[in-house]
Amino acid sequence: MMKSIDTRSMLIIVLMVMLLLVSGSEGDARVQIVNMYCDKGLENNQTLFIPNFVRAMEITSTQMRTSHNVTITVGTGPNKNYALTQCYGDLSSEDCLLCYAAIRTYIPGCYPQSGGRIYLDGCYMRLQNYSFFEEYKGPNDTIVCENTTTKGILFQESTREAVANAVTDALRYDNYFSRQEVAVAGTNKSVYVLAECWKTLSPSSCRACLVNASEWITKCLPWSEGRALNTGCIMRYSDTNFLNPVPVQSSSRSSNHKGKIITITVSVVSSVVVLAVALMIFLYISKRRYIKQKRKGSFNAEKLAKILTDSSLNFKYSTIEKATGNWDESNKLGQGGFGTVYKGVLSDGREIAVKRLFVNNKFRAADFYNEVNMISGVEHKNLVRLLGCSCSGPESILVYEYLPNMSLNLFLFDEIKGRELSWEKRYEIIIGVAEGLVYLHENSKSRIIHRDIKASNILLDLRLRAKIADFGLARSFQDDKSHISTAIAGTLGYMAPEYLAHGQLTEKVDVYSFGVLLLEMVSGTENNRSKTIDYTDSLVSTAWKHFKRGTIEEIFDPNLMMHSYPNILLKKDAIRVVHIGLLCVQEAPSLRPSMSTALKMLAKDDEPLPAPSSPPFTDEKTMELNNITQKLLHYSEGDDASSIATVTHSEFFPR
Ligand SMILES: *[C@@H]1O[C@H](CO)[C@@H](O)[C@H](O)[C@H]1NC(C)=O
Ligand SMILES: *[C@@H]1O[C@H](CO)[C@@H](O)[C@H](O)[C@H]1NC(C)=O
Ligand SMILES: *[C@@H]1O[C@H](CO)[C@@H](O)[C@H](O)[C@H]1NC(C)=O
Ligand SMILES: *[C@@H]1O[C@H](CO)[C@@H](O)[C@H](O)[C@H]1NC(C)=O
Ligand SMILES: *[C@@H]1O[C@H](CO)[C@@H](O)[C@H](O)[C@H]1NC(C)=O
Ligand SMILES: *[C@@H]1O[C@H](CO)[C@@H](O)[C@H](O)[C@H]1NC(C)=O
Ligand SMILES: *[C@@H]1O[C@H](CO)[C@@H](O)[C@H](O)[C@H]1NC(C)=O
Ligand SMILES: *[C@@H]1O[C@H](CO)[C@@H](O)[C@H](O)[C@H]1NC(C)=O
Ligand SMILES: *[C@@H]1O[C@H](CO)[C@@H](O)[C@H](O)[C@H]1NC(C)=O
Repeated sequence: MMKSIDTRSMLIIVLMVMLLLVSGSEGDARVQIVNMYCDKGLENNQTLFIPNFVRAMEITSTQMRTSHNVTITVGTGPNKNYALTQCYGDLSSEDCLLCYAAIRTYIPGCYPQSGGRIYLDGCYMRLQNYSFFEEYKGPNDTIVCENTTTKGILFQESTREAVANAVTDALRYDNYFSRQEVAVAGTNKSVYVLAECWKTLSPSSCRACLVNASEWITKCLPWSEGRALNTGCIMRYSDTNFLNPVPVQSSSRSSNHKGKIITITVSVVSSVVVLAVALMIFLYISKRRYIKQKRKGSFNAEKLAKILTDSSLNFKYSTIEKATGNWDESNKLGQGGFGTVYKGVLSDGREIAVKRLFVNNKFRAADFYNEVNMISGVEHKNLVRLLGCSCSGPESILVYEYLPNMSLNLFLFDEIKGRELSWEKRYEIIIGVAEGLVYLHENSKSRIIHRDIKASNILLDLRLRAKIADFGLARSFQDDKSHISTAIAGTLGYMAPEYLAHGQLTEKVDVYSFGVLLLEMVSGTENNRSKTIDYTDSLVSTAWKHFKRGTIEEIFDPNLMMHSYPNILLKKDAIRVVHIGLLCVQEAPSLRPSMSTALKMLAKDDEPLPAPSSPPFTDEKTMELNNITQKLLHYSEGDDASSIATVTHSEFFPR
């Protein structure tokens, strides 16, 4: 036993070192963000825009795997999505994927604005609701100069020469890309230049764009580095070599082509030798250390090896791709704030639900893995089980147990299917959700605040028992703006006011959402509020008015009345649930019960309940509402919101 762990850990270490060295010898995906603009205009219709947007990103994801430049149009009318994504010519296919993975995490940051563009140092993405593919100049074209070191006159001369060369070179072979290295006279230094036009331009537009860029960029001199960010092209010069090595098999036009191949071959051969030697040394040292630490009783590699080889948690990307029929449209179950969900069948016949995350965490695969590891350790009968992930593949993917009966909202808010939810069933679901939340808040090893409790996140198993989905994920996405904006757009009705306005996050945020859910369970009505900030006739305030007047039966779901449950009891129970719901949605978080108190109130039906104070937004003119309105307006159309640098997410997630 001891022996086998030993060998396995060694193997893993070898593999990891090799991976490290190999990836270290690759190029640089240059994922630093240089600039980002979002449009002023909001998208036209959320229900039409989001699916188009998600679809456009999905197609782009697929095509970027085999191409450096992808253009996509999805949808019709004012919600049509046009997307252009392009990696710069010196990136390898792998680096291109990495750069794309990074850039696509930024673009949702523009939502709900209808479009935007992002310049990373290795790739570019633009999204609009009109065809911009021919555009090559615009009012936002700009230069970005690095002003830390200045260079002499000789460097400046070489830079002018290099950028001029780049313009002609980029157009010479119609590949719209040029890399230049021009020596600075009298030194052993060079100036390095990259120029690239979007492939959708005509040659004359590309030329016009690059000519402008090449003239403009020289305004950055004498600084050591400059970038021109135009509508149709980019250019960069620098005194340090930021360019990736020319790939061996590329049809390089460079005169010392052969020389480069030889250099690369030599460096490959020598790095293999170095690698082998390094490995041997490393193995020797780690073996000794391993044995030594093994005696002490702790060694991280063992843990790491266990995690990495734990096949039940780690799914291969190809396995998942196959299970979902290559992301077949017919397997799509739906889409949420974090990504699209597909049904999958593993080769052993097991059914799974696959969440293809919108956000790629490749750059923190280890963090993501830890997160998944943590969440997968959280087990409760009322929580959807996370089976594992594909954490290091080209996309971030989560694998869940599959629940065929879908989510609560599809039953509750459906006139026909709602009949399947008798009062007993509803009560059982309510208790299940409450127990799941108590577990998340109080019993699990790490305290988890769900943040997104709503009917569509409550899944139902074969016997219609409740299972809470998507818990714990929000932690992984703290700095992902896309989720926040989707959450604001989609889940407004469920969000506690203090969280919405001030980002105050406590368990009481979930209690609020749970309260809304209780009201929905009794009324069969959705508390949906999308963009219109019109709280005065929401389910919460309607329920509050009726509760005060003693006419709460008026909001009862007609479907409830069809069941044979003795009406008098039903009425008493349902009123109690509304009462508890109203206690949960009180404006002051401190007045709301904790989840365990709420559960006790639900379970013991004879104990008297305190009288609820008013829920938020019952008066249109309250300060709170105005604050929130301002916040949302600021968020969606304020000048500051257009720039990624000035919007801090801490407003929403202060921890
Ligand atoms: C320029 O950028 C601003 C935001 O910085 C944006 O509102 C505007 O729509 C952009 N103009 C064009 C033509 O892209
Ligand atoms: C958005 O589009 C959907 C589907 O066509 C439509 O039902 C809805 O009324 C539209 N919403 C708005 C605000 O126009
Ligand atoms: C990418 O650019 C090439 C021309 O270099 C073009 O043939 C190809 O169609 C483009 N691909 C896409 C998806 O636009
Ligand atoms: C793009 O969206 C904006 C904002 O909703 C709208 O004003 C404009 O008409 C749309 N453009 C097209 C071509 O539909
Ligand atoms: C560099 O630019 C920044 C912002 O434009 C400016 O605040 C700073 O003073 C500049 N530094 C130098 C050395 O010019
Ligand atoms: C050439 O570069 C090396 C380091 O890369 C430096 O030590 C040397 O001084 C340089 N020579 C000249 C003439 O600048
Ligand atoms: C390049 O074009 C932009 C607008 O597209 C313009 O403002 C700028 O002056 C031009 N620069 C040069 C050097 O022509
Ligand atoms: C739940 O799903 C199963 C399998 O699809 C189906 O047979 C069953 O009728 C569903 N139950 C309800 C109540 O819809
Ligand atoms: C909630 O959304 C449904 C459709 O999803 C719609 O029929 C209903 O009118 C909406 N309710 C409110 C209060 O906006």
